[in-house]
Amino acid sequence: MNDKETWKAVDAYFDEKLHISDETTEAIKEKNDTEELPAIEVASTHGKMLYLMAKMRNANTILEIGTHGGYSTVWLARALPEGGQMATLEADEKHARVAEENINAAGYGDVVHVVQGTALDTLPSLMEKGYRHFDFIFIDANKENYPEYLKWALEFSKSGAVIVADNVVRNGRIIDGDTEEKQIPYLREFIDILSEDDRIEATAVQTVGVKGYDGFLLGIVK
Ligand code: SAH
Ligand code: DHB
Ligand code: MG
Repeated sequence: MNDKETWKAVDAYFDEKLHISDETTEAIKEKNDTEELPAIEVASTHGKMLYLMAKMRNANTILEIGTHGGYSTVWLARALPEGGQMATLEADEKHARVAEENINAAGYGDVVHVVQGTALDTLPSLMEKGYRHFDFIFIDANKENYPEYLKWALEFSKSGAVIVADNVVRNGRIIDGDTEEKQIPYLREFIDILSEDDRIEATAVQTVGVKGYDGFLLGIVK
């Protein structure tokens, strides 16, 4: 097996052994596929990781920026205790519609608030909707706005808030200042802001698996 085949097979091994995917999560991936959404959901192993992290944090309120079809949303919603709430932001109308359907089918329609619109437009309205702080924030929308999303995440954080951002490695291109990948300079700016902001302690975790070589940024607000 080459590296990529091995990464995939190891993800499948853990998915099976640790009982990660179930009917609900598989139905979401299938619907996303049928509706022709791009296959860019987090891996099942990482969906469960997000769920476990939110549980470890005892998160009562969760914010997700970048809903897609609601796959990561449902993983995160599962971590909420009775009375918990989640807001998830999605610019694309079709993605938001598919997400609503998936989230309702999974039984989280009352817990998750899908907010359709460009996140930079809808983030300010969350305060009006009654959200003051989030215990757990997952950033996974367009990479160009990661620097702005980080500022908003900090705005919505109290001490102990956990901030996770997806796709900060991109096959190693994060360290290539000259890459053709247009998003990289914004991801590097996002890291530079973290580098200079002493309100947050952070690390980065490189990952391989079904989605190739990438990684997460993981931080906690002091
Ligand atoms: N978190 C999802 C995947 C998100 S993919 C999962 O793991 O299942 C990124 C999503 O961000 C896409 O659905 C895309 O439409 C959305 N997006 C792109 N630009 C956006 C913006 N400016 N505001 C909100 N969402 C945006
Ligand atoms: C891609 C992967 C992601 O996890 C994402 O959020 C956006 C794009 C990709 O592989 O293109
Ligand atoms: Mg992602």
